Amino acid sequence: MKNNYILGLNSGEFNSSACLIKNGEVKIAIQEERLNREKFTKKFPINSIKKILETEKIEISDINNVTIGWNPSRHMVKYNPLVSSFRSLREHNFYTITDNLLNTKIDRDLGCFTKITHENSEFPNIYHIDHHMSHASNGFFLSNFSSAAILTCDFRGEYESTTFGLGYNNQIKKIESQNLPNSLGKFYATFTELLGYKSDNEEWKVMAMSAYDYDCREEIKKIKKCYNLLDNGKFELVSKYFEFSNLGNKNHFYTDDLLDLFNIKKAEYNFSPSKKKIKISKALQYCSEEIAFHFLNHLYKLTKNKNLILSGGFFLNTVLNGKIIKKTNFKNLFIPYAPSDTGNSIGSALYLHYGILKNKKKQIDNNPFVGLNYQNDEIEKAIKRRKINYKILKNKHKFIAEQCFNNKIVAYFNDRMEFGDRALGARSILGNPLSKIIKDKINLSIKYREKYRPFAPSIIEGQLNNYFSVNNCKKNPYMERVFEIKKDYLGKLPGITHLDSTARVQTVNNKTNSDFYKILLEFKKISGYPILLNTSFNINGEPIVCSPDDAINTFFNSGIDILVINNFMIEKKT
Ligand SMILES: [Fe+2]
Repeated sequence: MKNNYILGLNSGEFNSSACLIKNGEVKIAIQEERLNREKFTKKFPINSIKKILETEKIEISDINNVTIGWNPSRHMVKYNPLVSSFRSLREHNFYTITDNLLNTKIDRDLGCFTKITHENSEFPNIYHIDHHMSHASNGFFLSNFSSAAILTCDFRGEYESTTFGLGYNNQIKKIESQNLPNSLGKFYATFTELLGYKSDNEEWKVMAMSAYDYDCREEIKKIKKCYNLLDNGKFELVSKYFEFSNLGNKNHFYTDDLLDLFNIKKAEYNFSPSKKKIKISKALQYCSEEIAFHFLNHLYKLTKNKNLILSGGFFLNTVLNGKIIKKTNFKNLFIPYAPSDTGNSIGSALYLHYGILKNKKKQIDNNPFVGLNYQNDEIEKAIKRRKINYKILKNKHKFIAEQCFNNKIVAYFNDRMEFGDRALGARSILGNPLSKIIKDKINLSIKYREKYRPFAPSIIEGQLNNYFSVNNCKKNPYMERVFEIKKDYLGKLPGITHLDSTARVQTVNNKTNSDFYKILLEFKKISGYPILLNTSFNINGEPIVCSPDDAINTFFNSGIDILVINNFMIEKKT
């Protein structure tokens, strides 16, 4: 059987990425920032595409179709540029040759996608898939649910900010949607800016700040003035508090009225935020959850389906995600490993494979370790080029566990890279969760980040319920939810316990990440706990390391004690 290849892309906004879907399976996926080293890059993912073709030993002409998670036809309400003879502007001369020699055709009245074909060329067809359909597909087609309710939320797609849908076999039906200017993502982003952080970028810092135990009832009353929940299951923003124009000299989303409401003169960043800012962040989290639960209850009424898919950048809000099963009628939840736009390379490609080409939905491997891999000779070359002493570890699992127990900070680079925003044990920094000083040590020597922000734990999957209150949740493999630490363990795991006694835990099993699983087993033998601190292998502000060269550079530019790349070990002498 001839292989069917789809090259999926996300490009145009933040977090450019590319993936290859081979016969319906994610074969490889790469975030462009990991290669061009520009965090959240918007650049076209040309480096990722080249690496994918090189790694899979194929040419662009082997690709059957290309997809992208954005459909510009949505913006062409009146004008329909089919072929060059109908293009009406001088600038359209750019298309004369492609339109005529390659016979390029744009078919845009197809529902939730636009198809571009080139009849006289080997270049593959191009499908522009609606942004929120790409988000929905990234969730539903990576899940193993045969049917599920689907909620997507982000800042914006072409127009949509929220969609309510139903996935069934190989199809996704959009039931309802909400458009800009009413957007939950924008709501959170606006307050993120008001608190002095970067919108569409640092929302998780605001979420982490909301864990302080302060009374924020007054701030909740004020934020509630900024939106209305509607009887039809949607919501609306009160326009005087939000800047909607992308034009003019406004370069922020809050208005003077919003500044006045909170008696703030100017949005300013504080490394140690004031009590006032913390209270606003806590109230913001509360109100955002109120809106999200309003959506979720509406979705349940629409679908009556117990399975839930969440996708879109808003669902990087792990605090909200951890409460959903407890507070709604949904019983099973799946959030993909890259719910933000990063994952729309995968989502758009899977929508083509299933939704458009109507291939049968099969059990899918939702393993997030689909990134680049480096061979031992490449690793050895990178080390030797720098004339560094190294050792080959015979039992790296035991060695890493012992070093962590001795409060060393270990950078761990292993096999294929994970795809998504979080390090899941292939490009991770590991530490001792029992240590009282490990947080400060990592912050001062590597991360240089706000002191209130927590570090996450990784735990052996079967042990999750012993240490965390998880509402029957059996696994949380992508750190997608925050859970409370059980009372018996409060005070015993200071390295990974957040201010409100919660943790954004990752479960690890022997099938998808056996090396990390074995390290956790060894750590349990020594410490009694099958848990390690796991934070991303990068310095604050930089993308997570991808190659051995990145890893070695970051190791020497920071206070990391030990670097393990596959079985190669480098140690700093102290
Ligand atoms: Fe999005």
